Amino acid sequence: MTGLLEVRDLACHYAVAQGGWRKPAPLRAVDGVSFELPAGKTLGLVGESGCGKSTTARLVLGLLPPTSGAVHFEGELVPARRNARWRALRRRMQMVYQDPLSALDRRLPVIDQVSEPLLIFAQGNAAERREEAAALMASVGLTPNLFDRYPHELSGGQRQRVVLARAIIMRPSLLVCDEPISALDVSIQAQVINLLQDIQERFGMAFLFISHDLKVVRQISDEVAVMYLGRIVEQGAPEEIFQRPAHPYTQALVSAIASPWLRQGSPRIVLEGDPPNPVEIPSGCAFHPRCPSAMPVCRQQPPGLVDIGAGRTAACHLLTRQTSGTAC
Ligand SMILES: Nc1ncnc2c1ncn2[C@@H]1O[C@H](COP(=O)(O)OP(=O)(O)OP(=O)(O)O)[C@@H](O)[C@H]1O
Ligand SMILES: [Mg+2]
Repeated sequence: MTGLLEVRDLACHYAVAQGGWRKPAPLRAVDGVSFELPAGKTLGLVGESGCGKSTTARLVLGLLPPTSGAVHFEGELVPARRNARWRALRRRMQMVYQDPLSALDRRLPVIDQVSEPLLIFAQGNAAERREEAAALMASVGLTPNLFDRYPHELSGGQRQRVVLARAIIMRPSLLVCDEPISALDVSIQAQVINLLQDIQERFGMAFLFISHDLKVVRQISDEVAVMYLGRIVEQGAPEEIFQRPAHPYTQALVSAIASPWLRQGSPRIVLEGDPPNPVEIPSGCAFHPRCPSAMPVCRQQPPGLVDIGAGRTAACHLLTRQTSGTAC
């Protein structure tokens, strides 16, 4: 096992009510997701709404039991049940959510919330805990006059700094960030991203970073995975993914960002139709009904994730045909 985090063939299927007398139908929120994350590195997870990013994050942390597959963290299987072993592992992997206000207790001064994990894991006495929390809060840019305030007395950016301080006080080796900046004012977003990069440098934490903001994902990630309807369809280094997207879905995602680092003259690709209902995933390649380059084989056979060179993998018949030279 090489990575800090190893995710193998992870799946999470829900049974959703269909109404009336109809049998509940399976919804494949995550379906066969595998990746590795080395210590101190960042994996960016992108894809449109409902593709399974948050479900993947919750499965990684053991907050949801997988339907199948496994997550290994620091060489140990993450238990599907919240037992003592899970609690011990959970101390080393923390999560930062989109909305800092709902992540905090409105009735407690923020410094008590930052120091709370030390209390839960019986570290130091009350004075030492407060001292450690204060030092960490100062290091993430919170001034002492804010320490004894309540969450509603802080700005959104200050609250997210409190959430970050609380998440890192036990020095986890993995921080799962699910849309950590999307609820913040644009002017504050860059500050929080800089803070996250600073935290990673100081403490050597790995990040699983979920965001709709592709520019930020490119800036912060060592590797990027693109999800479509519960599956990873392309994965590789950010410069490859964003400058030479290989999968037609990645090409469409990337073409929607106007940026100087995109290839000059690349046309915007507008995908036809809405994302399909995850209860009725199309046969073959799930992307084929919206793919501008779909071939007959795409309707019949699901493409496997294969190596397409330059450390990249992608799941697309078009790419397999190009690399193997066989006609479909
Ligand atoms: N408890 C649940 N029961 C049934 N379906 C669920 C449940 N939780 C999530 N889903 C479904 O699983 C799919 C994936 O949801 P998920 O929240 O992981 O998407 P996401 O990629 O994080 O989306 P967003 O970008 O909007 O946050 C969606 O179709 C969602 O409706
Ligand atoms: Mg989500």
